[in-house]
Amino acid sequence: MGAGPAMLPVAIRYRQLSFERAARRYDAVSEVQRLMARRLVKLLQLEGESPRHVLELGCGTGHLSELLVGKFPGARLLCTDLSRGMLEQTRRRLGGDGARRVHWLQLDASRVRDGLRARFDLIASSAMVQWLDDLPAHVDGVGQRLRPGGRYLVSGFATDNLPELALALARFDVAPGIGHSREQLERACSAAGLRLVAFQSESIPRVYRDAREFFEVLRAMGASRYPGGSPLAPGALRALMRDYGEGNASAHGVHATWRPWYALLSR
Ligand SMILES: C[S@@+](CC[C@H](N)C(=O)[O-])C[C@H]1O[C@@H](n2cnc3c(N)ncnc32)[C@H](O)[C@@H]1O
Repeated sequence: MGAGPAMLPVAIRYRQLSFERAARRYDAVSEVQRLMARRLVKLLQLEGESPRHVLELGCGTGHLSELLVGKFPGARLLCTDLSRGMLEQTRRRLGGDGARRVHWLQLDASRVRDGLRARFDLIASSAMVQWLDDLPAHVDGVGQRLRPGGRYLVSGFATDNLPELALALARFDVAPGIGHSREQLERACSAAGLRLVAFQSESIPRVYRDAREFFEVLRAMGASRYPGGSPLAPGALRALMRDYGEGNASAHGVHATWRPWYALLSR
């Protein structure tokens, strides 16, 4: 099963369009996600394993794909994403040698259970699960595609990710952002019969030139909230940016705190 427009629920189709639009600029603005992919792969080093069949979900422009190809030279990697444009960026990035053992598929990660038939030794996704409506269903679906003993290496954002933005949004009656807690992940694991082998979280403070730059980075990376709520009118967005800038400025610029987590699950 693919991820062609006709088959997708409206919310997923909306997400797909956001990331199609972001595909060409995402790599240049996703410094935090690049860092996350590096940290995530380190979790696996504790295990010292060498999987033969690897599936990546939501590969984006390939921050994690590149590391997986380098780390597992004997493995076949199936790179998937909801967005064709993103897949194309990863394909270009890997090129040459890597490309010979990498396969590509446009796939909705919320339907991984029915969208694929194969089973994998390792499934990986970085900075993708925050876009899924139903984490337990996703984790259960991933569990169905893992071989016994297989692993799911996954990173996401915590519920208190970008707290400065959540505070500013609250002043405009917009609910706080996307993300999952460790407890939510643990519950999803136990419902799916998976074991949480390792979990780490961190804060990554960043400074942007001004609030406009920070919001532009979010937009360029495809992060958009609708259809969970209504889009902000242009006037309200300008007021939000002003409010954010005033509340989070220092002599160096405007601050934002990213809060990712990293986990290794085992079947
Ligand atoms: C924030 S980017 C992360 C990309 C990459 N993994 C990285 O570390 O930079 C999120 C990616 O997940 C993809 N995505 C979002 N929802 C998805 C879904 N339901 N199924 C598959 N991919 C999805 C987007 O197209 C985008 O490429």
